[in-house]
Amino acid sequence: MKDCYALGETPKPGCVPARMLAQVIRQDRFGEPNKAFKVEEIDTPAELKPDEVLVWVMAAGINYNNVWAGLGVPVDVIKSRQKDADYQPFHIGGSDASGIIWKTGSAVTSVKVGDQVVIHCGVWKADGPVVKAGGDPMFDPSFRIWGYETNWGSFAQFTRVQAHQCLPKPKHLSWDAAAAYMLVGATAYRMLTNWTPHSVEKGDVVLIWGGAGGLGCQAIQIVRERGGIPIAVISSDDKVDFCMKLGAKGCINRKKFSHWGRLPHWKDDKGYAEWAKGARAFGAAIWEIVGERKSPRIVFEHPGEDTVPTSIFACDTGGMVVVCAGTTGYNADVDLRYLWMRQKRFQGSHFANDDNARQFNDLVVSGKVDPCLSQTYTFDEIGHVHQLMFENRHPHGNMACLVNATKPGQTEAPR
Ligand SMILES: NC(=O)c1ccc[n+]([C@@H]2O[C@H](COP(=O)([O-])OP(=O)(O)OC[C@H]3O[C@@H](n4cnc5c(N)ncnc54)[C@H](OP(=O)(O)O)[C@@H]3O)[C@@H](O)[C@H]2O)c1
Repeated sequence: MKDCYALGETPKPGCVPARMLAQVIRQDRFGEPNKAFKVEEIDTPAELKPDEVLVWVMAAGINYNNVWAGLGVPVDVIKSRQKDADYQPFHIGGSDASGIIWKTGSAVTSVKVGDQVVIHCGVWKADGPVVKAGGDPMFDPSFRIWGYETNWGSFAQFTRVQAHQCLPKPKHLSWDAAAAYMLVGATAYRMLTNWTPHSVEKGDVVLIWGGAGGLGCQAIQIVRERGGIPIAVISSDDKVDFCMKLGAKGCINRKKFSHWGRLPHWKDDKGYAEWAKGARAFGAAIWEIVGERKSPRIVFEHPGEDTVPTSIFACDTGGMVVVCAGTTGYNADVDLRYLWMRQKRFQGSHFANDDNARQFNDLVVSGKVDPCLSQTYTFDEIGHVHQLMFENRHPHGNMACLVNATKPGQTEAPR
């Protein structure tokens, strides 16, 4: 058996080469993505725990989390794993993938060698206290994001994952399209359906920040499928068509407003009045699209510091602002008067459990939700693609990189 296979070259079925190619982040390269990622040849993680599988990666999806991993902030993901039994002084990122099951651990029954799968990025210990008690694994202390908080992500020829992470690959999708959607889609699905009674229902207005982004394009489609009224926020008019085709009722260009960022202090009458004028104008733009004075029952938040004050203000009485990130900063101010007087809910949400991921995957399998693959890049371009994302210069929707698949749009399994 060969020690290492070239990209696109198929190892003998069932054989695991000793070495593989991977895009690797090391602490001495922490910085902007162009510098942080480098292709290296390393040992294949062939030793599996009983509940794990080894997947031969066909394509990998690109997410913002490995921009953070490369920067080394807000968390040094390599240092944070120092005490793990299988600690390695490097990080192989990648939290989305399509691929083929290549080897299974001794206790795996849910998938078998040869199955074509997509991978969700939620990992947890089966004997974690919450998991054992039958609770939501997302609340278990052992919960981690594969390919960000854990090593052996999808930016390598092989990846090691827990079997429950593997879901059927939608047959109608190419390897690259199938790799592009799960992290953002399942996250959006949990945000919009898990936090009852605030799950999207027919006629609900839902404000979606970054409507043309990775999360946003999935959120628009989920809201549409549930009969809600998605309203997308964007930063340039060339994104309008994209969002409208996905089902947005209308788009608001945030560049037409300037009240973003932290709230002026409530004792600063002049500053606060100016902020409130901007926030009210933004609210009026929502009503104009809806066609009546109906505010969002749900606000889909992730920019954070720049937008949370407006989200809380614009949300309807009794509604919910649900947040999964703070891309622009973590000090998001809440004017408590709006929160308590109007009885609004400010809810954190993080990735998804198996049920959320499976239900979302079913929407994609049935063709109701499109992954919105915008562009496919090569394995060598993984650093470059993250750089585009870091600079908010990436194309609309979601991006993927080929790993062992040889061309964009490839649907057939290699022999
Ligand atoms: N917790 C989780 O489980 C989870 C899961 C997925 C993603 N995330 C996080 O969520 C964030 C977004 O992810 P993504 O994949 O959707 O990224 P993305 O594809 O880059 O989209 C983010 C969108 O946010 C908008 N945006 C950027 N700066 C903004 C600002 N100052 N104010 C308002 N909107 C702004 C941009 O749209 P416009 O410029 O057009 O407005 C951009 O398209 C990232 O921080 C990511 O790490 C968290």
